[in-house]
Amino acid sequence: MSTVLTLLCLCSLTLWTTADGKVLTPQLTSRIGAFVENLMHRLQYLTASGQFRDEYNYNNWMYLLAGRVAEVMSGASWEDLLHQRIFQPLQMNDSRVIGFNVEVDADNFALPYVHVRNDVVLSDPVIYNLHPGEPAGSIASSADDMVKWLSWHLREGVTSDGDVILNKTTLQDMYTPHVIVSPQKLTADIMLKPQFPVTYQDYGYGYGWVTSSYRGYPVVWHSGGINSYNTRLYLLRDLDLGVFITTNLNVGLTIQEIFYYITDLFLGEEPWLNTTNACQFPQPWVNTTGQTPSNDTIIVPGNIENPQDFVGQYENRLFGNIVVAQNGSNELLVTYGRITGKLHKTKDRNVLMMDIDGLLEFLTHPGDSVQYLNLTFTRGDQNVKYQQLVLSWLEQGPSETLVYSRVSAAAAAALNLINLMR
Ligand SMILES: *[C@@H]1O[C@H](CO)[C@@H](O)[C@H](O)[C@H]1NC(C)=O
Ligand SMILES: *[C@@H]1O[C@H](CO)[C@@H](O)[C@H](O)[C@H]1NC(C)=O
Ligand SMILES: *[C@@H]1O[C@H](CO)[C@@H](O)[C@H](O)[C@H]1NC(C)=O
Ligand SMILES: *[C@@H]1O[C@H](CO)[C@@H](O)[C@H](O)[C@H]1NC(C)=O
Ligand SMILES: *[C@@H]1O[C@H](CO)[C@@H](O)[C@H](O)[C@H]1NC(C)=O
Ligand SMILES: *[C@@H]1O[C@H](CO)[C@@H](O)[C@H](O)[C@H]1NC(C)=O
Ligand SMILES: *[C@@H]1O[C@H](CO)[C@@H](O)[C@H](O)[C@H]1NC(C)=O
Repeated sequence: MSTVLTLLCLCSLTLWTTADGKVLTPQLTSRIGAFVENLMHRLQYLTASGQFRDEYNYNNWMYLLAGRVAEVMSGASWEDLLHQRIFQPLQMNDSRVIGFNVEVDADNFALPYVHVRNDVVLSDPVIYNLHPGEPAGSIASSADDMVKWLSWHLREGVTSDGDVILNKTTLQDMYTPHVIVSPQKLTADIMLKPQFPVTYQDYGYGYGWVTSSYRGYPVVWHSGGINSYNTRLYLLRDLDLGVFITTNLNVGLTIQEIFYYITDLFLGEEPWLNTTNACQFPQPWVNTTGQTPSNDTIIVPGNIENPQDFVGQYENRLFGNIVVAQNGSNELLVTYGRITGKLHKTKDRNVLMMDIDGLLEFLTHPGDSVQYLNLTFTRGDQNVKYQQLVLSWLEQGPSETLVYSRVSAAAAAALNLINLMR
C-alpha cells in the first residue's frame, strides 16, 4: 500500500493554483496505460545522457511511468488514487487534475498568461492539458491546500487528524540524496561566496526532491512548469518551514528570488535581494552583458534556395515526425505535433531558422528579438533531397540537439494513413 502512495508522492510534485472548493467526482478510468505501453517500446531510442547511476537527468516520462505503475499496482486510475490517497486524507478539497475535473479557464482559476512580442497575453487552455502526462504535473491546487501538503511533509507523513499515511522512513529516504548533482547542470542556481553575499547550492537528488542548502540550512525542493505556470515547493525541515511559490506567467528566476526573500524574513535576516536590486539579479554579482543569445541578425533576407530539397517528413523514433512543406508562395512551413512555424534563410544554405507561430508562438517570440530554432539539414549526395535534420535551440545550450531522418515516400504515406485512422 505504502509503495503506491510513495509513487503518488513522487509524482504529485507539480501543483498550481485554483481557489474553487467544490467536491470531486472521480471516475474510475485508466487513461495513461496505452501511452505507457507505447512509450516502453520507444524508450530504447532515448540516448543515454550519462553512465548508468552516475548522474541525474530529469525526465518527465519517468514520472509518467511511475504513475502508471501506481495504477497497475492499485487497480485504480491516477486521478482516483490522488483523490483517495492524498487529497481526501489531507483534506485538500480544492485540488484537482487539469484536463480531468478542471480546466485552466475555470472560474476562480489563476488564468495562464504568456509573453508574446513584449505583451502579456492570455494563452489557449488547450496547451495545459498534458494528457497522458498527468503524473508529471497536472495538479491544480489552492494556497490553503498547499499549506496542508507542506504541513503533512513537515509532520513527517502524519495528517492533521493524526493518521500516518506514509512511513516516516520512506519519506526521509525521498529527501535523501541518492545521486550527486553535477555542478555544471545547475550553474544558474548556485551562489557561492565570495561572489554572492549568501550561499545557495544544489548538491544531490533524492526521490523527486533536489537536495540543497541556503545560507547553510538544508533545503529540499521540487519545481514544476507548464508554459505559464511555474511553481516551486521548498522544505526546510530543520526550521519547520515550507515555502510554496507559484506564478501564472513565466517570470524566469523570480521564484527563486522570492524564496530567498521569504526565507530571509523567516530567519530574521535582512533580505539581501529586495525591491532595489531584485529586478537586476543576478547582476551586479554576475556580469550578464554579452551573454544574450543570437538574434535576428542570423536571418538573411530572400527566398530559401531549392526549397523542394527540404520538403518531406523527418522522423525521430522517440520524439515523432517533423513535416516540412512548401506553400503556394514557396515558403517552407513546419508542422511538428502542436508546433507550427516558418523557416527562414541563413548564410548557410543547409541551415534554416524556425520561428513558431500559432498556439505556441510565445516560445520563440517572447520579446523584441526572435529566439529561433536551428534546423541544420545534411545529405550525402548533392543530387538528392536532404536526408537528415538536426534540431537545436540556442537557448537550451549546445548539447540539446535532436536528429531526424527523412522518411521515404512510401513510409510517409503509411504514416499519414495511420494518423488518419487515429
Ligand atoms: C473537505 O471535504 C470533506 C468531505 O466533503 C469535509 O468533510 C471536510 O470538512 C472538508 N474539509 C475542508 C477543510 O474543507
Ligand atoms: C517503516 O519502514 C521501515 C523501513 O522499511 C521499517 O523498518 C519500519 O518497520 C516501518 N515502520 C512502520 C511503522 O511501518
Ligand atoms: C536593498 O539591499 C541593499 C543592499 O543590502 C541596500 O543597500 C538597499 O538599501 C536595500 N533596499 C531596500 C529598499 O531595502
Ligand atoms: C562584462 O562582460 C562583457 C562581455 O564579456 C565585457 O565586455 C565587460 O567588460 C564586462 N564587465 C565587467 C564589469 O566585468
Ligand atoms: C505561405 O505561408 C506564409 C507564411 O505563413 C504566408 O504568409 C503566405 O500567405 C502563404 N502563402 C500561401 C499561398 O498560402
Ligand atoms: C542583435 O544583435 C546585434 C549585434 O549583436 C545588436 O547590435 C542588435 O541590437 C541586436 N538586436 C536585437 C533586436 O536584439
Ligand atoms: C546551427 O546549427 C549548426 C549545427 O548544429 C551550427 O553549425 C550552426 O552554426 C548553427 N547556426 C546558427 C546560426 O545558429
